[in-house]
Amino acid sequence: MKRILVTGGAGFLGSHLCERLVASGSDVLCVDNFFTGNKENIKHLLGHPHFELMRHDVTFPLYVEVDEIYNLACPASPVHYQFDPVQTTKTSVHGAINMLGLAKRVKAKILQASTSEVYGDPEVQPQSEAYWGRVNPIGIRSCYDEGKRCAETLFFDYWRQHHLRIKVARIFNTYGEDAAR
Ligand SMILES: NC(=O)c1ccc[n+]([C@@H]2O[C@H](COP(=O)([O-])OP(=O)(O)OC[C@H]3O[C@@H](n4cnc5c(N)ncnc54)[C@H](O)[C@@H]3O)[C@@H](O)[C@H]2O)c1
Repeated sequence: MKRILVTGGAGFLGSHLCERLVASGSDVLCVDNFFTGNKENIKHLLGHPHFELMRHDVTFPLYVEVDEIYNLACPASPVHYQFDPVQTTKTSVHGAINMLGLAKRVKAKILQASTSEVYGDPEVQPQSEAYWGRVNPIGIRSCYDEGKRCAETLFFDYWRQHHLRIKVARIFNTYGEDAAR
């Protein structure tokens, strides 16, 4: 049975991912500091023998044994990520460093939930992966956009330098029901 860590697992996307992974027969460790997520999103999974919840902030190191990591922890909506912009950048950058360090130690595969915001305010529509974006490092959205860009840099450098098995998914705006509907 695969042991899978989902950071931000009590959030909107993370709770659906936890649900899917538990249903597919994996052992899921959901880590969240409940800044924007809440237990309501995962209440249907609490008590499941293959689901575990841990309150933890990814800006601090985490020592667990897992086979795969999905790094989703980060507030996603502007009102939330602009509430404490320094913490937002720390969550993306320190969070990526801590999760990549963990992946390196335990030789886990790791996925980063990145964003279409890495393209900034783009001049081309639609954006292709070859497009590097038109970005602003000093605006009020930069804590999110630049944090996610730096996280992507870290992921690709861990791949080149340490041969980590990485995936980076640039998610575009997503909507839907809460997992615990
Ligand atoms: N929803 C979208 O449209 C969208 C689009 C692009 C990218 N993304 C990315 O997908 C991921 C999930 O987005 P979402 O829509 O589910 O957002 P969300 O705010 O519902 O979930 C984020 C989760 O991360 C947790 N979190 C925040 N900071 C943390 C920290 N320091 N330590 C531990 N947990 C922390 C929150 O409590 C929450 O449960 C985010 O990384 C986001 O940037 C989402």
